[in-house]
Amino acid sequence: MALKITVIGTGYLGATHAAAMAELGFEVLGLDVQPEKIEMLRRGEVPMYEPGLEELLRRHVAGIEGSTGRLRFTTSYEEVGAFGDIHFVCVNTPQKHGEYACDMSYVEAAFDALAPHLTRPALVVGKSTVPVGSAARLAQRLTAAAPAGADAELAWNPEFLREGLAVQDTLHPDRIVVGVAGVGAPPSDNWGRAEALLREVYAAPIAEGSPFVVMDYPTAELVKTSANSFLATKISFINAMAEVCEAADGDVVKLAEAIGHDERIGKKFLRAGIGFGGGCLPKDIRAFMARAGELGADQALTFLREVDSINMRRRGHMVELARDAVGGSFLGMRVAVLGATFKPDSDDVRDSPALNVAGQIHLQGGQVTVYDPKGMVNAQRLFPTLGYAESALEAVRGAHVVLHLTEWREFRELDPAVLAEVATERRVLDGRNALDPALWRKAGWTYRALGRPNA
Ligand SMILES: NC(=O)c1ccc[n+]([C@@H]2O[C@H](COP(=O)([O-])OP(=O)(O)OC[C@H]3O[C@@H](n4cnc5c(N)ncnc54)[C@H](O)[C@@H]3O)[C@@H](O)[C@H]2O)c1
Repeated sequence: MALKITVIGTGYLGATHAAAMAELGFEVLGLDVQPEKIEMLRRGEVPMYEPGLEELLRRHVAGIEGSTGRLRFTTSYEEVGAFGDIHFVCVNTPQKHGEYACDMSYVEAAFDALAPHLTRPALVVGKSTVPVGSAARLAQRLTAAAPAGADAELAWNPEFLREGLAVQDTLHPDRIVVGVAGVGAPPSDNWGRAEALLREVYAAPIAEGSPFVVMDYPTAELVKTSANSFLATKISFINAMAEVCEAADGDVVKLAEAIGHDERIGKKFLRAGIGFGGGCLPKDIRAFMARAGELGADQALTFLREVDSINMRRRGHMVELARDAVGGSFLGMRVAVLGATFKPDSDDVRDSPALNVAGQIHLQGGQVTVYDPKGMVNAQRLFPTLGYAESALEAVRGAHVVLHLTEWREFRELDPAVLAEVATERRVLDGRNALDPALWRKAGWTYRALGRPNA
């Protein structure tokens, strides 16, 4: 009998995971506390934009013509408890309001709601990104609240998917990390059960060569937060180099290309710009610092404070560049903002540097018009007072300066000559170092970018 899997929390991570599990051949039941999200998923509609996810979902959601019917959705924990052999917990772990620490209340609520309904042997698998030490605590909470017959056990299986590439990353992960209770502990009746079940779940990617790395709970939790810290550090490193380049008339794009030829450094994540954002990196490095502080290891992570502040500085710097470009004040100036999402191929605007810059300019009196290929609805919800346009061309119409803030392919493919005809002033600031300066200059634009000389 194929394993029955439930996915608790069907947001960016959970909806993708649920569809991917069905694609791998399992019977899947997804649960969320937002009934409207569940209704959409039942109709085969994805509550966010993620390339390829809607097709995957429609291939499996029960009731859709031609689907395998392996994927269903519910809001009932009772149904989930009775259904699943394995329960993946994928709920959100945001930053606490007014603090650096992680807000674990959603994870705790999910565990508390699930545990009493575990009426058959169950492996609960945490996928959310959590502070180190959480899994051990939640394992105790789970065994205390679950009925004895459930023989409930916890594993931690952090997720590394990238929004925009989530389907591919879930079906073909570059590694599978599993934290289990058994490592280092005396053998129990369950010895190896969690690992064996997860090897079954991930049999297809393992057969393709994805490394399956088993470890204890704290190490598994730390793998996720340290990977994010490394990535954030790499981005802030090149952005720090951009600051120095600006002071010394250097060109950070050339610099990145040249250092990237060193295999130990590599080319990826070395594009200077307005920095990282989104629902993960910023809150994860802050939660990591907060947790290290609790553990008395804060000194080890003080560098992350600098990583964070370099990153946040970039947003302010972009605003300054734009203000300089329009003569020192935004008053009466029209500013076109290309991009609202925190990265391309997503509709996610959580902690988006692009929207943050747009908001700051608006507060300083600029008339901002934003266009984004997929993030308009979410952006309007978060920043209702900004202006919005239906296309890049409409956003640029009448603008005194154009800011390129999210590196969508659509923006790279714009014809600067066409935009030049509708802009009031031909000034473009490339906040992502992704446009072709020669092309824009040829069409009469003054092109400036972070970390590059003006000429
Ligand atoms: N988005 C990513 O790219 C990504 C990548 C790797 C890891 N993660 C981690 O995965 C977790 C989820 O992230 P996300 O981006 O999918 O968040 P999200 O906000 O998109 O989704 C979380 C979902 O959980 C639901 N939820 C909240 N409380 C619940 C409860 N008690 N029971 C059932 N459902 C509940 C919410 O309604 C929401 O639909 C976070 O810990 C995040 O750090 C996210």
